[in-house]
Amino acid sequence: MSKLFTPVHLAVPEGPGLTLRNRTVLAPMCQYSVTTLDGVPHAWHLAHLGARAAGGFGLVFTEAAAITAQGRISDQDAGIWNDAQGRAWSPIVDFIHSQGAAAGIQLAHAGGKASTYAWLPQQVAEHKIGSISATDGGWETLGPAETEIFGLTSPWSMTLEQIAASVQDWADAALRADAAGFDVAQIHAAHGYLVHQFLSPLTNTRTDAYGGSFENRTRYAREVITAVRAAWPAHKPLAIRFSGDDWVEGGWRIADTVRFAAEAFELGVSAFDLSSAGIGKYHGPSGPGFQVPLAAAVKQAVPDAFVTAVGMINDPSQAEQVLVTGSADGVSIGRAALKNPNWPAVAASELGASRDDIPFAAQYWRAHW
Ligand code: FNR
Repeated sequence: MSKLFTPVHLAVPEGPGLTLRNRTVLAPMCQYSVTTLDGVPHAWHLAHLGARAAGGFGLVFTEAAAITAQGRISDQDAGIWNDAQGRAWSPIVDFIHSQGAAAGIQLAHAGGKASTYAWLPQQVAEHKIGSISATDGGWETLGPAETEIFGLTSPWSMTLEQIAASVQDWADAALRADAAGFDVAQIHAAHGYLVHQFLSPLTNTRTDAYGGSFENRTRYAREVITAVRAAWPAHKPLAIRFSGDDWVEGGWRIADTVRFAAEAFELGVSAFDLSSAGIGKYHGPSGPGFQVPLAAAVKQAVPDAFVTAVGMINDPSQAEQVLVTGSADGVSIGRAALKNPNWPAVAASELGASRDDIPFAAQYWRAHW
């Protein structure tokens, strides 16, 4: 039996925890598909996530679900800032469950990277790239400081009152996610979005209690984790996604992530996903498994957590190697799962699983016969 298709257990503060049927995780991926612009997920999200649950993933993450309207990357993002959105996620979660997968939601706030055009072919063809113009309905954004990212419109520096309100927004979103039936909530602390903007010295130039020292720059993230952990049921695992490294001298580096991961674990985070970058031009490595060393470093710091690697892990035997070498406990699959929603089922077959152990929907049994 391959390690990739061995069940894995995620610890929780109270109760038995969550067991995933295997160690394949669908990476969160924005769909920019909310055509009614109200953040309410619909048939596309059901079809997209449902197909990948049927395709065998152990844990299926939604796209970055905005915790406030202001925190949306684009106006076509799905959200979890109101109850109508929560109710719309519920049947999607039910379907994911019906296929034997666990359902995760990525809670997200884009901060100074909010209010951008949806990254879809038509918008790109029309040169609608970057900040949405005011005439197209762009909105004001918030960040730790007025640092411009990627040439986007600068955010407003958050007041202490706005920081406190924002922490509450994360907790409220977690409550809605719980009501919708999600099993795992993941705090999006990666890719240059709001939490990462606080962590990184590249974007956080504050001089108050939320900026400067490591302790101050991590304060917002600690408060968010604490508030979400209190709102999110103790029997459900809390996850976080980090940009493990800005790949820039003077930025947020892997040593910072390792140090903060240990703190996050103490605060009740039991699953870590290690991506990288998102602030400024990309200076990091590339190639198959290029972010695996980041996961391996965090795995050493929090050996009892469920740590996943992500980034160009496309090949089943490569994924298996990541696990066998102890670099991570699972793999998050992004683009390879867009190409093939049945990535896990195919991978299990390629790794030699017996027919009974291949995670496929009953309706598809003859594909594996
Ligand atoms: C992404 N990615 C991403 N990451 C994230 O944390 N939240 C998100 O909503 C999105 N959205 C998104 C949309 C699309 C279309 C792609 C391709 C990617 C990043 C993604 O989760 C993953 O980290 C990268 O794609 C790298 O993994 P792969 O694709 O090499 O397996």
